[in-house]
Amino acid sequence: MESIENIQAQLKETLSEKRYLHSIGTMKMAKILAKKYNVDENIAMLTGLAHDMGKEIPLDKAMEYIKENKIVIDEIEKQNTALLHAKIGAYMSKKYGFTEEMQNAIKYHTTGNPEMDNLAKIIYVADKTEETRNYEQVEEIRKLAMENIDEAVIKILDHDIEKNIKKKVLIHPDGILLRNKLLLKFI
Ligand SMILES: [Fe+2]
Ligand SMILES: [Fe+2]
Repeated sequence: MESIENIQAQLKETLSEKRYLHSIGTMKMAKILAKKYNVDENIAMLTGLAHDMGKEIPLDKAMEYIKENKIVIDEIEKQNTALLHAKIGAYMSKKYGFTEEMQNAIKYHTTGNPEMDNLAKIIYVADKTEETRNYEQVEEIRKLAMENIDEAVIKILDHDIEKNIKKKVLIHPDGILLRNKLLLKFI
């Protein structure tokens, strides 16, 4: 598997400054959460670092990449194209030797998915709580992330769903399925 240093150097070349710092922040937060929830820290850091590697590809190039590599996308991803970078990034990360589990964590980081394991939840939460994130509930979610990862995931889903309603964009059902699954655990 590729080293953190090498991936970091590649991302510095290819991503904007803002996205690069977000990637570093996600890596650091993933490390903290991995330690807390007994997940391999190196695996979590690598996955956090690379999670947005597909994000800055222009839409026409992204669609080409999807076609070339026969990546299967659904109707909602076709409409809400901001979602596409998750599946693209997961596919791209194969070149670093990422395992299926790491690829899945990248694949699920935008919508959430009921199949998420601990690593995927860590990446999902790290992405939304890393040090450069700044929104109203971020402190509350950061705190929750260190207490109960599932509750942090639910809070982020709620926040995202509300945001998507306000923006009048399609909401991916995988996030709803995940939210239902996690909520049932707390009933
Ligand atoms: Fe992302
Ligand atoms: Fe991200």
